[in-house]
Formats: sequence, C-alpha cells, structure tokens
Amino acid sequence: MNTNRQWLLAKRPFGEVGKENFTYAETPIPEPGNGEVLVRNLFLSFDPTQRGWMEDRESYLPPVQLGEPMRAGSVGQVTESNHPDFATGDLVQTTGGWQDFVIASPGQGPMGLSKVPDGLSPEMMMSVLGVTGLTAYWGLLDLGDPRAGETVLVSGAAGATGSVAGQIAKIKGCRVVGIAGGQQKCEWLKNELKFDEVIDYKNENVDRRIGETCPNKVDVYFDNVGGNILEAALNHINMKARVVLCGGISAYNATEPVPGPSNLMNLVVMRARMEGFIILDYMDKAGIAVGELLGWVNGGKLKFQIDLQEGFENIPETLNRLFTGKNIGKQLLKIADPS
Ligand SMILES: NC(=O)c1ccc[n+]([C@@H]2O[C@H](COP(=O)([O-])OP(=O)(O)OC[C@H]3O[C@@H](n4cnc5c(N)ncnc54)[C@H](OP(=O)(O)O)[C@@H]3O)[C@@H](O)[C@H]2O)c1
Repeated sequence: MNTNRQWLLAKRPFGEVGKENFTYAETPIPEPGNGEVLVRNLFLSFDPTQRGWMEDRESYLPPVQLGEPMRAGSVGQVTESNHPDFATGDLVQTTGGWQDFVIASPGQGPMGLSKVPDGLSPEMMMSVLGVTGLTAYWGLLDLGDPRAGETVLVSGAAGATGSVAGQIAKIKGCRVVGIAGGQQKCEWLKNELKFDEVIDYKNENVDRRIGETCPNKVDVYFDNVGGNILEAALNHINMKARVVLCGGISAYNATEPVPGPSNLMNLVVMRARMEGFIILDYMDKAGIAVGELLGWVNGGKLKFQIDLQEGFENIPETLNRLFTGKNIGKQLLKIADPS
C-alpha cells in the first residue's frame, strides 16, 4: 500500500449524516518526525459524539475542520517509529481518524498514543476497557454512586456504554431496569445480561412502564438519550436521586432546538441531583477502572458485545448505525488485519 486512503469532512451536517458529508481522497503516506510514529489503522471506533465534532460550535473538543480526515478513535499497528517507547509492529491505541495511516505521539490528540497491553484484544481495548467502558464505570460509580438495593434505570441500555453501566449496577447489588429499542435488544438485556426488567421504548409507553418496573422509584438514572425518555425518568425519581447525564443521542440529529424536560421541578421536590460529565476528565484514573473492569470480565460477571463492520468504503454509513439503533454493543469497523 503506497497511498493513504481518507474520508474527509466535506460538508457540515444538517439532520442525519450521509455519505454526502464526506469526500474520499488518496494522499501520500505521511512521514513521522522526531518523537513520532507512523500508525496503520486497523480498527475504527464509532461514537455518537462524532456527530457533534462535525458541527462548527464550541464543545469539549474543537470541531473537525472541513477538508480534514474525520476524527475517530482507533487501534492500529506501528509501521515506522521515531519514538524510543514504540517499535514497529506494536499495537497501539490513538485517534487515528478515518484514514489508513496517521502520525501519532504520546500526549497528542484526545487519546494520545498508548500500547495495547499484551494479552488484550483491540476489540476489548475499544469497548469494555476503552472509552465507553470507562464512561460507564466513572459515570455510574462517581456521579451515580449506586448503593446495594437501590434501583438503577439505564437508557441506551443495549449500547456500548449503557450495557456496561447496567451490568456494573448489577455487580454493585442494585435492581437494574434497562430501556432499549426493540424486542431483540430487550431480550438480550434480560436473558444474557440479567437486567431485572426491560422497557422497549419503541413499542411501550415508557412513562407507564418505568412506574411499573420501578415500584420503589428510581435512585439512579443513567441517561444516554435525553428527550422524552429523560422527562419520563424524571417523573419517577426517588428522594435524593442521582441523574447522570452521559449523553443525549435522541437530539444529536435535531435540526431545531429541542425543548428541555418540562418537569425539572421534580429535582427540587425530590432533593435530587442531575449532573453531566465528560470522560476525558477521568483519563488520569483510567487504570483503576480498567483493572476492575478486566477483573469482572475475567470473572464472568461482565459481558461485552462488539458489532464489527468491515471495509474502508463502509466507514461513512457505519456512523449512522448508532442513530438507527442497528448496533448491539460497541460499534467498530475493521480496516485491516495486523501484519
Ligand atoms: N459523557 C461522555 O464522556 C460520553 C462518553 C461516551 C459516550 N457518551 C454518550 O453515551 C451515549 C451512548 O454512546 P455509545 O457510544 O455507548 O453508543 P451506543 O449506545 O452503543 O449506540 C447508540 C444507541 O443509541 C440509541 N439511540 C439512537 N437514537 C436514539 C433515539 N432517538 N432515542 C433513544 N435511543 C436512541 C440506539 O439504541 P436503541 O436501538 O436502543 O435505540 C443506539 O444503539 C451517547 O449519548 C454518547 O454521546 C458520553
């Protein structure tokens, strides 16, 4: 391979993202400078937040500029190294973007550059031990502070973050109710992940079902979706409840401002707390989470699911799987096998 295939951001989205938002390009393979390595991307991560990175507005990271390769987390293999800590052939995690090759160095970009630990697969490092696993871990345990016997409600429950958050709550001795779209996802949550109750938001009345499935009310609500489901959850919070705002995917493709929940006074009445967070603020504590998550995986207490797509040409369409709910578990795409 002597060119770098890329998908560049061509047009900022309005509503749903489509192939027309990107241009395919082939450019020369870049050369690493001093202290840098050249990485060949093998796996790309797909994350709902990428939709926000495409917009020209202030956020926790700068927007992707028009003409730049689309930003994405990745695992790849070092093909050339000018850094003493990395050798050709090393598997590494970085922000590789939608392209075959990227120049990377530790401390550069939101993910920096780190080695995939021996014995762990790229798929694990990009899911249960990666950003979504850490998000579930720190969001739930730090902000949600679940205690044994409490009721934890999770939306986006069959996704990469929600499925791990719900299982951690089970491990902590909580009663866990998951909200997800469709029978297949709900059955998976109940039968495989052992959630206590599930709510199919596409086919059931969410407000009524939260009332039925949470007879002692909701102590922790881990919200991945926002919108009507957040409003319904707020109708059922307990005294001193903790509402963890992890994300709000139901509004990421909105073309006009979305009204907020009409019942925020419930937070006052129930002396409850609602708080957002960004996982990048917890990266100095990533090792603590990875150690505990890995222990649970190895002990058979925590399951993770990968939705693996393949093919460079399928990259733009794969992002939409997160918004149509086609993914079960962590959405990844494989570009190449390690050499
Ligand atoms: N705060 C942070 O630092 C942080 C870090 C990572 C992720 N997040 C957030 O966490 C959430 C989950 O991210 P993820 O990477 O784990 O993705 P994911 O849950 O694996 O995939 C997204 C899921 O969202 C659901 N969804 C899509 N449109 C929806 C809608 N209109 N209403 C309700 N559900 C909808 C779909 O499931 P259904 O089939 O069930 O609809 C889809 O599978 C996102 O909001 C993301 O932005 C936040």
